[in-house]
Amino acid sequence: MKNRNLNIAMLVVVIAMMSLFTACQDEYVAPYVDPNACNTTDVSFISFVKPVMDTQCGYCHVSGYSSGSLANYDDVKAFASSGKLISKIEGSMNGFMKQDSTLGCTILKIKAWVDQGMKNN
Ligand code: HEC
Repeated sequence: MKNRNLNIAMLVVVIAMMSLFTACQDEYVAPYVDPNACNTTDVSFISFVKPVMDTQCGYCHVSGYSSGSLANYDDVKAFASSGKLISKIEGSMNGFMKQDSTLGCTILKIKAWVDQGMKNN
């Protein structure tokens, strides 16, 4: 009887710990961005989004890469439309983004480019 109660207590602890870990995994805390220092009006694919893809993602995501290409406008647009581009830059691919004070603004600008209709501008 005593043993059984102990097992149940252990199970409760394990479940509580598991839910704690999953909660942390889903939660992305965006870095602080000074709104005055981040211009998100009319974000350009050619002069902003493409250079980020080329320097920070493109050395893996080349044309024909098994995990998807980010080498040109059509490929970036396809991942942006499906929502995967944003979920990845805030999630498992975040570590490949330049980790400095520009990170928050870069993410905001890419989000804005998506919201502005993913123009080839
Ligand atoms: C070191 C190589 C590498 C770099 C650099 C890299 N990725 Fe990835 N990427 C991968 C691998 C491997 C996967 C597949 C595993 C996964 O989904 O996490 C992947 C998956 C993805 C996917 C999902 C593909 C799918 O079909 O589900 C997206 C979107 C993505 N990466 C975007 C990016 C972005 C944006 C950057 C730049 C900030 C980037 N990646 C940088 C290796 C890389």
